[in-house]
Formats: sequence, C-alpha cells, structure tokens
Amino acid sequence: MSVRFGPGPLRGALRLPPDKSISHRAALIAAMADGVTEIAGYLDSADTRSTLDAVRRLGAAVEGIGAAGSGARISVSGAGLRGAAEARVDVGNAGTLLRLLPGWLAGQETGSWRIDGDDSIRRRPVDRVADPLRLMGARVRCREDRLPPLEIEGAPLHGIEYELPVASAQVKSCLLLAGLLAEGETRVVEPLPSRDHTERMLAAAGAEVERADGAVSVRAAERLEPGAIVVPGDFSSAAFFLVAALLAPGSDVLLEGVGLNPTRTGLLAALGRMGAAIEVDEEDARGGEPVGRLRARSCELVATEVSGAEVPLAIDELPLIALAACFAEGTTRIRDAAELRRKESDRIATVAAALRALGGRVEPTGDGMEIEGGGLRGGSVSAAGDHRVAMLAAVAGAASEQGVEVEGMEAAAVSYPGFEADLASLRKEA
Ligand code: S3P
Repeated sequence: MSVRFGPGPLRGALRLPPDKSISHRAALIAAMADGVTEIAGYLDSADTRSTLDAVRRLGAAVEGIGAAGSGARISVSGAGLRGAAEARVDVGNAGTLLRLLPGWLAGQETGSWRIDGDDSIRRRPVDRVADPLRLMGARVRCREDRLPPLEIEGAPLHGIEYELPVASAQVKSCLLLAGLLAEGETRVVEPLPSRDHTERMLAAAGAEVERADGAVSVRAAERLEPGAIVVPGDFSSAAFFLVAALLAPGSDVLLEGVGLNPTRTGLLAALGRMGAAIEVDEEDARGGEPVGRLRARSCELVATEVSGAEVPLAIDELPLIALAACFAEGTTRIRDAAELRRKESDRIATVAAALRALGGRVEPTGDGMEIEGGGLRGGSVSAAGDHRVAMLAAVAGAASEQGVEVEGMEAAAVSYPGFEADLASLRKEA
C-alpha cells in the first residue's frame, strides 16, 4: 500500500498508544503467573497480538482483546511459572517475543517447543539468547546455530553470571525469566544500561530482583503475582510526532500519557543538544513506570554526536535522530550502533537509503551514519517491511519540501495501527 504524506505543520494534542515493549512483557509475565492478571492499556498491534496468540498456545487464557483501536483492557489467566503447555509458536514479526519466550520455556521440567516467525524474524540472530541459556543447562537448537526457528526442550537450569557482549534488553530479559526457574542466582552484567521494564515488572510481581553495579540478578521463584499492570503510552511512538513537530515549521504538538522511563528517553537528551524546544512534564508513575506529557514546537537545530551509553537508551529512535540531523546545521555522527543492522531491517542501510532517496546527505558507516544538514526535498521511499522506517518516512513528508510517498505503509501496524489517523488528526488542526 502506497500513501502520500504532504508537507505542512502538525498542531494539536494526542494521546499515544500503549508501549509495545511493556505490553509484550505484561502478557508474558501474566502468562507465567498464577491466577488472573488485569492489564490496562494493552497495545492492540500486530506484534502484541502475536504475544497473546503465543501465550494462549502455551496455556494461558486471554480475554478482552479485539476492542477497536489501541489501549484495550485485557485479563490473562496464567499457566503458572512451570506450567507452559507444549506448542509451536509463531512470533510473526515480533523480535521481543522471539528473544524473551525461550527464557520461560527452557526451564520447564518437561516438554518441547518450536519458535518461528516471518521472513524478517528468520534473519534475526537468536544465538545471543541460545548461547547463555545453554550455559544455564538449557537444551536449545537453532538453524545454522544462530537463526530461527528455535527448538527448545525443557531442562533443569542453574543460575550463572553472564556478561552481555552487547547491551540488549531482550537478552537480559530472557535470562532473567530463565533465572526465575533456575537453581540459585542468575546475574546479568550489562556493558551499558538498557531498558529496564522487565526488572520493574518482575519486582512488582514479587520476584527477588536486585540491581547493583551495572548488573541485575534474580533468584528462583515459586510463583509470580503481578497484580494489576498499567501500560503507559509508547515513547517510541511519541518520538515520531516529537521529531516531526520540531522539523515542520509552524508546528506545536502536545503528546499525553507518554512513558518516560529514563532507560528509553535518550532521544530527549540528543535533541536537547541539537537545540530542540521540548517541554517535559512528568505527571506520575503508573505501574512502576514514569509517565508524563511532552510538548514540541518547531525550531532551528544544530548537529550533534550520538554514541556510547546513549545508544541503547535511544536504540529505536536513532533513525529519527538521523532524520532530525538532515535539518540540523553541521554534520551529525551516530556511532557505536551496529545493533541497528539487526533490527526488523538493517536500519543503517534502510534508513540511509530512505533519507538519501528524499535528498538527504547521509553516509552509512559500519556502526552508524554521518548526516549533513540541508533539508529534504521529498520523493518516494520503500518502508522495506519495517514499521519504524514506514513511520519515519511518513513524518519526513511533513518536514520535506514536496512531500513523501511511502510504499509499504501497512508495515506501521506492527507497532502502531492508528498511526496514519493520528498523524492526520494533527494535520487537521493545523
Ligand atoms: C526491546 C529492546 C531493544 C529494542 C526493541 C525492543 C525490548 O532490542 O530495539 O525494539 O522490548 O526489550 P535489543 O534488546 O535487541 O537491543
């Protein structure tokens, strides 16, 4: 499906759909729990439906999804920590599900499971979870030793100390879930902090989670009791409108109910250095996650560098930093971000190609990009089957001279089915 997004300002207020990362974790941890868990604001998107489908196959009962739009209230009746039913699971396009699920299944006393997904999933490495799980005693096989499908047989696990080779919240979370079923303590050492939603949610569910000195540890648990879970709005979805508002002259946008967990908001610091005028108004904490409002108005930007510890805190927003850099004075450098090559697409290649097709001066490098300011003319772009590339190109349309035609816009439904309608609502008020 090809959609055209014309230039022009964004104005008005928007309440964001629920967080994808937190929704995956909520459904999974509720499935691992005993009894019924109410989840308020579960994201209704292709990826998070894959998670509900998976947990149903694994023996949990889910009620309530299917209400139109996002933010559904669902209830999950758990299978229990050691009660996962044997199943073949199709994760669709959901990398987070692909990496987290093996943690739960590997520690089951008996049973076998097969985890597979779409073409993009079949290119995403799983040795990053299979290797450390094997060190814990798990029986895991994968294609060519590193790719899906994954085959898992339940086995007794023991805790380990594991130093992550790259900062990855998915790998960390997988090992923490396995740690709940492993004898002794499981300790995950992070090279750099990454999103900590799993730690927060497990602690709220009564697990023994400790955080100190760049490491997270967990001990075997008898049961999980998450209580009610409230999912805040997705910062990564808000980020598209935030950046569009900075770039499209005459814009003024208020984004409400946005999750502001500091392990997710690296984009704000980078944009701040670029001279962005963003007001952050933290309101409260919902279910252990900080939430607030963001207001962005169009302004002049200058180049910056994003590297090191900032990368995991802005990993899914680095493409938007590249877009903003196309409008900033000077040369922006994104480094230490080779992980971008292992996302839903090779985002160094696909983002650089998309911005170049629109007239951007972008050079891909091995571990990032160099971007020279100068604006974007517009043109037409392929989403490359990647939801974040589709939405990036759409908001580039608002800031460009001539607008942008996005081929494959339907990819946005992976995380944000209402994206086009929400963007259109901000154009109406302009
Ligand atoms: C996610 C972690 C990040 C991120 C992905 C979601 C998560 O991946 O890019 O979109 O929910 O844990 P990595 O853990 O591979 O860095």
